[in-house]
Amino acid sequence: MKITSDELNLLNHKLENASVESILKEIIGIFGYNIAFASSLGYEDQIITHYIARHFPEIRIFTLDTGRLFPETYDLIDRTKSRYKINVEIFFPDRLETEKMVNDLGVNLFYESIENRKLCCSIRKTQSLKRAINGLDAWITGLRRDQSVTRTDLKIIEFDQINGLYKINPLLNWTEENVTNFVQENNIPYNILHDQGFPSIGCQPCTRAITDGEDVRAGRWWWEMPDQKECGLHK
Ligand code: ADX
Ligand code: SF4
Repeated sequence: MKITSDELNLLNHKLENASVESILKEIIGIFGYNIAFASSLGYEDQIITHYIARHFPEIRIFTLDTGRLFPETYDLIDRTKSRYKINVEIFFPDRLETEKMVNDLGVNLFYESIENRKLCCSIRKTQSLKRAINGLDAWITGLRRDQSVTRTDLKIIEFDQINGLYKINPLLNWTEENVTNFVQENNIPYNILHDQGFPSIGCQPCTRAITDGEDVRAGRWWWEMPDQKECGLHK
């Protein structure tokens, strides 16, 4: 299903200030249920899961288990499944490629160079993503515009050139405050690390807590420059 660039512009204009529920409804109207939500179990993603579970339980939810997640994240997968009575599909990295990488370059290869870090993200995340979204018309993410300098130009609906399908970002215009308030007001299960200085949570060895005044993504790959901090899922 291909949307022309004029149609896409109109759609984005229409949805710019729309609610998550309206955006998901619109997307289902276009693509049916040949779509899925990629959840990292972060604050934003828990809000989307909340909407999906309440209003559109037929939308598949999946997570990419890199093998290096925090124990608190695994705990949240279970809490989310039992709270909402939904499934969260888990995708693992390819065993042979992962074994070769860590045997050749070490278990903590990502600290050695950006190339190593990107290789690890590629094997542990982006290649699993490709399997998870294979054959779909669109995938849904929890990206927000103000999360990072690399995310300011995103649109609610855009064509993901790398993966060849549409990408839907229903929380694009939400602020950090909108997100935390919504989670609290709706008693949504969340990662307890958020209360310990971790606003953005990825893999354990590549995420640290931030201090007051630091950018929300300062704790992700903290040894790298801000314009390099993307794992390949979105850039
Ligand atoms: S990352 O690219 O830096 O890792 P970030 O943690 O900000 O991304 O998450 C942005 C969005 O990417 C999430 O809202 C989610 O849709 C998707 N995402 C990131 N990590 C994962 C994961 N491990 N599994 C599934 N989706 C993920
Ligand atoms: Fe590997 Fe770190 Fe990327 Fe996780 S975030 S896949 S551990 S480099």
